[in-house]
Amino acid sequence: MKTLILYLTTDGQTRKIAEKMAETFADCTLISLREQPQIQAEKLQDYDCIILGASIRYGHFDPILEAFIQQHQGLLKSKKSAFFSVNLTARKANRNTPETNTYTRKLLARIAWQPQYVAVFAGALFYPRYQWFDRVMIRFIMKITGGDTDTRREYEYTDWQKVTEFAQKIAKKL
Ligand SMILES: Cc1cc2nc3c(=O)[nH]c(=O)nc-3n(C[C@H](O)[C@H](O)[C@H](O)COP(=O)(O)O)c2cc1C
Repeated sequence: MKTLILYLTTDGQTRKIAEKMAETFADCTLISLREQPQIQAEKLQDYDCIILGASIRYGHFDPILEAFIQQHQGLLKSKKSAFFSVNLTARKANRNTPETNTYTRKLLARIAWQPQYVAVFAGALFYPRYQWFDRVMIRFIMKITGGDTDTRREYEYTDWQKVTEFAQKIAKKL
């Protein structure tokens, strides 16, 4: 059983989550969709299970995500498939499910492909690594939502147990 995890990341947290999930599968390939947005359908056909993962930036997923889903929806529907989103809103317990995480709920309402498994994971906040504008903006968002604001620090909110359990749930059904 071959599994493919396609991810879209900016600062690496979605890739890190994809790598953690990959530990659960016996035969798993990881590909950055930003590096290979034109991945061929024939290549995708090689896999029994396809998992897509993407993070949120300024309220949106990378447009590559929906372009990919649109292009390959028939193929995705014919496979075992899963989707996970990564964002900071999900650090709140009442915003970390597909139903309660607005970005994820809206995406699923928009697209024709409905993955069998969906998860929402809290991401990370790497203040010192951001450009000045992003640092100011994200700090402002954190301040108004009662989050961490010390720009000298890096914060990781990802629940790694939840990541592993999600991968195990998919792997069990393969
Ligand atoms: C510039 C910037 C904008 C962001 N905008 C949002 C946002 O609108 N909503 C949200 O929940 N998280 C937001 N985040 C948090 C990211 O989703 C989080 O840092 C995630 O871990 C990024 O994953 P990646 O490194 O895989 O791209 C933002 C982060 C940055 C740096």
